[in-house]
Amino acid sequence: MVTNGDRLRGGGADVTALDVDAARVALIAENLQRLSRTARLCVGDARDPATFWDGVPFERILVDAPCSSTGVIRRHPDIKLLRRPGDVPAFAAMQLAILRAAVTMLSPGGRMLYSTCSVLREENERVVAALIAAEPSMRPVALPAPWRVPGAIEQAPGVQLLPSGAAGTDGFYYACVEKATTGS
Ligand SMILES: C[S@@+](CC[C@H](N)C(=O)[O-])C[C@H]1O[C@@H](n2cnc3c(N)ncnc32)[C@H](O)[C@@H]1O
Repeated sequence: MVTNGDRLRGGGADVTALDVDAARVALIAENLQRLSRTARLCVGDARDPATFWDGVPFERILVDAPCSSTGVIRRHPDIKLLRRPGDVPAFAAMQLAILRAAVTMLSPGGRMLYSTCSVLREENERVVAALIAAEPSMRPVALPAPWRVPGAIEQAPGVQLLPSGAAGTDGFYYACVEKATTGS
């Protein structure tokens, strides 16, 4: 989550990084130190901004959401054994709740990138469609050319990468949404 996007574009930004898992936040701290970068680190539930947010809106938010991880099964085959039928709807509900909470922290005109390592529509474009239906202030943003890597499949408003794709990536989905500058 980024405030002061002008500095981001020019190099440097006020970054807040959040995870519900303290061990993951410790890893972020290690990576920041290694890369000589700084960020405000928070352990908290993204669905509950009151527990970690100081009320200053973010100009940019990346929601790299918890998901079924179906896009990385080739590297983690145990996922096929561990997933249960109810997991995907539960992930979709959590993803939507996280996105809706993030909308409250986004500044007018601010943009949010949603990503998952899932190949399932239920967790990807359907979650974004549900967000736009639930939050009239939000609209999809077309992804510019550099985001359209070889083999990427259009799944409006985002892009789906498959593990079998030309770019040789894991399965991954990303979509961008923007908050209206006024009104609704
Ligand atoms: C796809 S991973 C993000 C990985 C991260 N971008 C990285 O590079 O390490 C999803 C993360 O969401 C975290 N998470 C799950 N539920 C959460 C919640 N309610 N609030 C905040 N973080 C949550 C998980 O602990 C996990 O680290």
